[in-house]
Amino acid sequence: MELTHCIYCSATTEEELSAEGLEAILEQSRTNNQKCDVTGILLFESGAFFQVLEGDEAVVDALYRKIEMDPRHQRVTKLISEPIEERAFGEWSMGYPKVSTKDLQEIEGLNDFFARGNSFMDLEEGRAKVLLDAFKKGKWRV
Ligand SMILES: Cc1cc2nc3c(=O)[nH]c(=O)nc-3n(C[C@H](O)[C@H](O)[C@H](O)COP(=O)(O)O)c2cc1C
Repeated sequence: MELTHCIYCSATTEEELSAEGLEAILEQSRTNNQKCDVTGILLFESGAFFQVLEGDEAVVDALYRKIEMDPRHQRVTKLISEPIEERAFGEWSMGYPKVSTKDLQEIEGLNDFFARGNSFMDLEEGRAKVLLDAFKKGKWRV
């Protein structure tokens, strides 16, 4: 088995994604991911998603292709896909650390990226790594 992570961003297609809508995505994700040993986190802020999927390469690739087609979001953009030595979010079938705009603006190493009005949709690989590291370190772990 080749352990890998796949990280992408996307934008919601709903005018305003409701708490129920988000809960439905999380519940479906957790049920499915438990069955195929996928772990990770989903962030949602200012209408944009940032998701980390970890697991066996073939499983993660297939899951990404399914998620990519989901009509609940658009402009799904893969930022990172590479082998990893160990999982960063092994305890979460799909964690949902609640982040505010202010939280994002305080992440070290992003150089006011979010303060300048950028969203997850504006990330590229380098900044995605910084964001990932901030969450790995556990500030938002619950
Ligand atoms: C932002 C977003 C994140 C998602 N994350 C996952 C996920 O981690 N795991 C998963 O199985 N489905 C996820 N989904 C749902 C899939 O796109 C798809 O609807 C689901 O896997 C289909 O499940 P089913 O085959 O059991 O009906 C996500 C959908 C969205 C919009």
